[in-house]
Amino acid sequence: MSKCRICGGAVQEFFDFGRQPVSDTFITPHDIGTEHFYRLAVGFCTSCSMVQQAEEVARERMFPSDYPYRSSGSSVMRRHFERTARHFLETELAGPDPFYVEIGCNDGIMLNSIGGAGVRHLGVDPAAEAAAVARAGGSRVRVAFFEEATAAAVRLADGPADLVFSANTISHIAYIDSVFAGAAALLAPGGAFVFEDRYLGDILAQAYFDQIYDEHFYLFSVRSVQAMAKRFGFELVDVAHLPVHGGAMRYTVARAGERPPAPAVAELLAQERRRCLAEPSTYKDFATTIDSNCEQLKALLGSLRAEGRTVVGYGATSKSATVTNYCGIGPELIPFICDSTPEKQGRMTPGSHIPIRPPAAFRDPYPDYAVLFAWNHAEEIMAKEQDFREAGGKWILYVPEVQTV
Ligand code: SAH
Ligand code: TMP
Ligand code: ZN
Repeated sequence: MSKCRICGGAVQEFFDFGRQPVSDTFITPHDIGTEHFYRLAVGFCTSCSMVQQAEEVARERMFPSDYPYRSSGSSVMRRHFERTARHFLETELAGPDPFYVEIGCNDGIMLNSIGGAGVRHLGVDPAAEAAAVARAGGSRVRVAFFEEATAAAVRLADGPADLVFSANTISHIAYIDSVFAGAAALLAPGGAFVFEDRYLGDILAQAYFDQIYDEHFYLFSVRSVQAMAKRFGFELVDVAHLPVHGGAMRYTVARAGERPPAPAVAELLAQERRRCLAEPSTYKDFATTIDSNCEQLKALLGSLRAEGRTVVGYGATSKSATVTNYCGIGPELIPFICDSTPEKQGRMTPGSHIPIRPPAAFRDPYPDYAVLFAWNHAEEIMAKEQDFREAGGKWILYVPEVQTV
């Protein structure tokens, strides 16, 4: 049993995916044999209920300067962040001369909208190449890992922040105590720390097991985030469920006592109790489903190969590392994966060594089946690739269950 990174309580493991590579490290043939592997195992804290990994991958390995993920590759996410930016410009940033800080701004998908509105802002992200894209879009970025020391330096240089925002990043940071200490140092009195991340409730309800990979060190719930905020001198004052990435939650925390909690907090907590999110039996069932989905996926791909059907992958996601490596799926079952990210094309998936090709390869000619590893972008991708189905092609999904559509 490991110790909870938040409260020091006992963490009970519920699934072990075994040896896994660093998920966003897309390699060249030259790198085979030098890849870094770690044990990917998840558990829940028997005290504060935080779901977390047993082993931590060094942050410099996960987020090097050439980290390949680019947020702006999805038009749905671009719209989501444009809306989010407008919302904050009318609320947290509506005062005189507001200052906005964003943790994990990546290519500026959100930051550029805030900066474009003339608001003082700073993005903090260690991924230098992604940060260069944000800068080219007109934003100010500090290439660094956000932690207490970074926050203190920003405060000294730029003064207090009215809003510290972060999307799909806070759950990636094992040393989260330092992030909260940084938010405390940086925020103006009455300021808010708002972060959104994949939601544990959706992951369990839809068996989204591939959301478990190195970067997703924590899987947040309202209950565990409330306990975490309290432990670090903050209070969870609002929550909002978001329909992105298969289901996410936006958490608003403020210094304890500064804002009255919105009714949504109690409502979501009650819903989580009804859904048994903190019950060990829930995780036992989840583990059974993970194994069953993986067995079915392997069986399906095996029989398609035996029938001589062609199968490719769509979306070289970080999630796909968990699926391909745990299920033992390599180029013999999926000869290539298409992905729109230029930084990933021409490389291979970590551990499973499946070549990555541009989406044009998908149509040349269409395969019989395509495993949709980017299922969180299903609507966007299926609309874009409408002709695939019209040509008789079928998508393979493996969450919430294995099916062809
Ligand atoms: N906010 C974007 C990007 C998410 S990817 C979106 O929602 O699409 C996560 C990003 O967080 C990466 O760009 C990574 O480099 C960055 N990151 C990881 N650890 C960080 C830290 N400690 N401080 C700031 N950024 C971090
Ligand atoms: P994500 O699930 O971590 O957001 O990653 C999605 C991956 O899928 C990313 O590598 C880009 C790729 N992708 C496409 O290839 N085509 C698309 O239309 C979309 C939206 C994503
Ligand atoms: Zn705990």
